[in-house]
Amino acid sequence: MQLLPHAEIVWCDGRIVSVAALSGPPPSDGLLWMPAFVDLHVHWPQSHVRGQFAGQLLPWLRDAIWPAEAAFADPAVAERRAQAFAAACTRAGTCAGLLFGPPFAQASLQWAAERVAGYMEGPALMERHGPPELLHPASQTLRSLTDAAAGRMFAITPRFAPNLTPAGLAACGALAAQTGWPVQSHLSENLDEVHWVRDLFPQAQDYLDVYDQAGLLGPRCILAHAIHVSDREVDRLAATGTWIAHCPTSNVALGSGRMPLERLQAAGVPWVLATDVGAGPQLSLLDVMRTFVQVHRGHAVATAEQSLCRATAAPGTFLTQFDPSWAGLGTLQPGAPAHLVALPCPTIEGDSPETLLRALLAQLPADAETAPTAVVQWGRRMFG
Ligand code: GUN
Ligand code: ZN
Repeated sequence: MQLLPHAEIVWCDGRIVSVAALSGPPPSDGLLWMPAFVDLHVHWPQSHVRGQFAGQLLPWLRDAIWPAEAAFADPAVAERRAQAFAAACTRAGTCAGLLFGPPFAQASLQWAAERVAGYMEGPALMERHGPPELLHPASQTLRSLTDAAAGRMFAITPRFAPNLTPAGLAACGALAAQTGWPVQSHLSENLDEVHWVRDLFPQAQDYLDVYDQAGLLGPRCILAHAIHVSDREVDRLAATGTWIAHCPTSNVALGSGRMPLERLQAAGVPWVLATDVGAGPQLSLLDVMRTFVQVHRGHAVATAEQSLCRATAAPGTFLTQFDPSWAGLGTLQPGAPAHLVALPCPTIEGDSPETLLRALLAQLPADAETAPTAVVQWGRRMFG
């Protein structure tokens, strides 16, 4: 039961205690309650430049994104932007996630000390092929994290294969094996990128094999995009249990192509929906769900119900691997963290979850970040 048009939800000490569907028709001005969203692929230092595009992936990174991220070397800028990002996520109905940070260890240490439990974060590791002020040996940045960790977990975040040396990737793999921390990166988003990786790593069979050889794949690893992937790569993703973050709004914005959902599903690759802000223009997973249903029409089965599950329970399952106290994250089960979103209940004939959700997505405002009527995080009403 992930969608409640007419219900009583009770929570205590930040956790759901009980959920009961009420009898009778819902009031005409009723609310539709659902679990808050979990976003497993979002770049928080890009939030203030989201929706600003200039060309496809590689020129966009070079001309727009890397200069924007350079400003985060200043801890005061990082602090101000982190606060604005966390508030904007909550407003959009997202209460947990996995984040790419700026390419500076200091900003991640600040993040881990300050933010609400529910987000994991790591600095985007960049060693080569970028502006000099963003480049640091991965082993050095990782050491800063492990030295300061004191029981906290960071996300091991090789930005994407072209930014890392084989030695830097191997350092990431070794740390993942030693700590069990999550691993996140990008995979085969754009054809120019795929060709570049082939030239940079001639010893690898393909893009995925670069990460495989470094020991990065497995159920604690999540890679964004997987658009231009071979059958071998899809089979290897499934065999290793590696997750894919599917980011359709980002893919449309950068003209990256359509992820072959039908092939990944047939192979049994675990996947979630994610915003990929700032390539994705909105922090709202409702916006991502709406675009997901549109882009796969005529290619793959992509229902609204499936989109809700992949924006809530599925990413919750991924995150719960790292903290058992988050068990049930992304669901309305008793015991789950009380993270909830309420939206205006659409007025429609019939009340199957699919019909309700389709109507909800059809009636969303263009700026879906403002759609929630109320958001509850750890049992606290954040607004509404
Ligand atoms: N590949 C490497 N870095 C990035 C990034 O910041 N955004 C996206 N969409 N792809 C990337
Ligand atoms: Zn990304």
